[in-house]
Amino acid sequence: MSSSPRTFLIVGATGQQGGAVLAALSKLISANDNKATPPKILALTRSATDSHKAQALTSKYPALGLTVVQGDTKDTAPIFAAHPDITAVFLYTTPPNEEAQALPLLEHVFSSSSSARKIQHIVFSSVDRGGDAASWENPTEIAHFKSKHEIELRLRDLCSSSPSPIKYTILRPVAFMDNLNPGSLFGPVFASMWATMPAERPLQVVSVRDIGLFGAKALLAGPDDATLGSNRAIGLAGQELRFEEARDVFRRVGGGQRELPQAPWIVGKGVRWAIGEVGTMFRFFEEKGYGVDIEALRRQEPELQDLETWLKKSSKFEFDNAA
Ligand SMILES: NC(=O)c1ccc[n+]([C@@H]2O[C@H](COP(=O)([O-])OP(=O)(O)OC[C@H]3O[C@@H](n4cnc5c(N)ncnc54)[C@H](OP(=O)(O)O)[C@@H]3O)[C@@H](O)[C@H]2O)c1
Repeated sequence: MSSSPRTFLIVGATGQQGGAVLAALSKLISANDNKATPPKILALTRSATDSHKAQALTSKYPALGLTVVQGDTKDTAPIFAAHPDITAVFLYTTPPNEEAQALPLLEHVFSSSSSARKIQHIVFSSVDRGGDAASWENPTEIAHFKSKHEIELRLRDLCSSSPSPIKYTILRPVAFMDNLNPGSLFGPVFASMWATMPAERPLQVVSVRDIGLFGAKALLAGPDDATLGSNRAIGLAGQELRFEEARDVFRRVGGGQRELPQAPWIVGKGVRWAIGEVGTMFRFFEEKGYGVDIEALRRQEPELQDLETWLKKSSKFEFDNAA
């Protein structure tokens, strides 16, 4: 951990990925026993005063001493004008109109009149599109994958042509294990869509906790770190498995007493048909698929969660005997 003062802006702090970055930063900073100066953390939200989630952030992560910051990435100049000390940003976007959420921030950071002069590192969470090399070349036919590809290319161009040294880390997660979480209809519906894939076809999945872990480690390691900084793009997946294998894992963790919640197969088929983009995405999963080198990633990060570990340690499922 560096000893020079650093300030991290975490975009989407109330969301899954931004929240996971805060959780991992909190753990890593609390465990920091070499007395390095901890970074200042700014948690960005569009509703600092009306959102209970935003208001709860300060007490949820006391070790971070974070400041909740009101702002919208579509209009970034006021955020950097109020916080000119920002040195790194964790950025991600949500459909639709993802370019509009990321490009104004990037253009502002790299503009010569920018108030964001101290920025050295941008960590952008995107999506894998078939492996490290293929992802650069392959926007895919999926609209929200294409948007992320567009943002990646612009970030790479801006970093390579910038007179001041700003480096990127691009994280490319695959399907979230967290899509299966209980608490909303989405979990059983996602399971039913997975069930419509050919039985022999596996899907790569990742725990959102691990996106947070890589995001936090990249921020702390800094822009020049050879593994997590230095203009690297890193595919993130914790396991590749077929739907029936996922059901078996769930049964095993549940002591043989429970089944993975799943809407009827016809629901998955219907959603794929009714929502064109979802249909296109599942066709990509079936015909090409994500391409993360999971074994190499696990060598780099032994804590990487597989589905069983996610179910026991990070999911919202409760199991009587999970150890
Ligand atoms: N689910 C999957 O399997 C999967 C797999 C790979 C990639 N992804 C990608 O992951 C992304 C979704 O991540 P997530 O589930 O972590 O999202 P999420 O939980 O819905 O959180 C989104 C966050 O973005 C913030 N936000 C939205 N627009 C903003 C703006 N204009 N300015 C500032 N903040 C803004 C929101 O904060 P406030 O409301 O507080 O402002 C919210 O906290 C999508 O792009 C998706 O394609 C998903």
